[in-house]
Amino acid sequence: MGKRENFTSQRAAILAMAGSAIGLGNIWRFPYIVGQNGGAAFILIYIICGLLISLPIFLCESVLGRSTQSSTFGAVEKVAPDSPLKWMSLITVITPLIILSFYSVVGGWSIDYFVQSLFNGFEGNTADTFATLSSAVWKPLLTFTIFLGITALIVIAGVKSGIERFNNISMPVLFILILVVALYSLTLPGSEAGVEYLLKPDFSKVTPETVADALGQSFFSLSLGVGTILTYSSYMKRDSKLIASSLGTAGFDFLFAMIAGFAIMPAVFAAGIEPGAGPGLIFETLPSIFVQMGAISPILSRIVSVLFFLTIVVAALTSSISMFEVGVAYLVEQKHLSRRASVALIFAGTWMVGALCSLSFGPLSNIRLFGDNIFGFFDSLTANFLMMFGSLFFTYLAGWKMDRSKLLAELGGKRVILFFIKYIAPVGILVIFFTNLFV
Ligand code: PHE
Repeated sequence: MGKRENFTSQRAAILAMAGSAIGLGNIWRFPYIVGQNGGAAFILIYIICGLLISLPIFLCESVLGRSTQSSTFGAVEKVAPDSPLKWMSLITVITPLIILSFYSVVGGWSIDYFVQSLFNGFEGNTADTFATLSSAVWKPLLTFTIFLGITALIVIAGVKSGIERFNNISMPVLFILILVVALYSLTLPGSEAGVEYLLKPDFSKVTPETVADALGQSFFSLSLGVGTILTYSSYMKRDSKLIASSLGTAGFDFLFAMIAGFAIMPAVFAAGIEPGAGPGLIFETLPSIFVQMGAISPILSRIVSVLFFLTIVVAALTSSISMFEVGVAYLVEQKHLSRRASVALIFAGTWMVGALCSLSFGPLSNIRLFGDNIFGFFDSLTANFLMMFGSLFFTYLAGWKMDRSKLLAELGGKRVILFFIKYIAPVGILVIFFTNLFV
């Protein structure tokens, strides 16, 4: 096995972590969840949860990865030698691969819509175009395979020439693209209602569930509890500043989510449509809006729709490579496989699970697991249980198992953070977990 690769600079590490964080979660989930849960009131809760709970978890993963210079399994083995904990850490190796499987299906749909925006501008799109597309057999399988394939090719190129280079170029481009779309969206007549939907504080909509939603969104959006941040941190140089990089990543992630909100909601309201949840919002509502705009200014609408779907594809790719890398790092470090062989194995495994997820909107839709189709089952299994478990696991390892003076040194001597890592974050996770379970 060759020398372990590192990110070239702290800036590169932050861009890679921001790349992992910024993804579909920011574009389709955040804007909708904000509006549903009381606008600015929700944003306030989201920020508080982020600072009190998500950031300490982010720091735990960063400390574990950077101090051991190993990805998940190896890091646990070094922090708690001779303990069965390392076997438990395998769960956090598998979780990102499960997420990768269904995430790539959405990545495939995004590629399809990008191509549509380029070539036909959604002419002839109707309310059930998306249902027809996602329930088909071959086309979604093909686009899913292309998405997973591109992810694999970037990962195969390595930490520096693949992951770092791709993020260095695509992250600034992503910000420019989403800004352009947001500026356009805000100039549409009637867009004020969308701004109001996002920003008007409505504390009457805040319930215990709102807090659980805020934290769940924060975990997903910051890629926490699944070893991606740990693995990327293990590629950080020893002199990089962990607190600065976690604040930087979380800041970019939040900023992008807000801009995405301003890109999407004003357009939705300008068109007089009620915002819908999840994939429906970007794959059903927005294409029809682009067609409407096309009636007024065909070229502008076409350009904006191409830019918008390109943003989604690229944002999804910078996240999917981070999930893929967790599995590859495990196989390279622990099983001593070559990078190529590891990529091939992970590709094969996630392709099989992802194909089932893709088919679960069509021929396999009658298979129900706890009331969901296969895609929905994996989605809620990871979001409601596995990510929570992983986050708890990492706070336990860093807060309770790691040598205290070493932990403090990694955190630049900031004692208050210890309190958050040991008590506030784990209690917060448990409260959310049980709220999800019983409410
Ligand atoms: N944070 C990514 C998003 O917002 C999703 C993700 C989850 C990425 C877990 C990596 C690990 O879309």
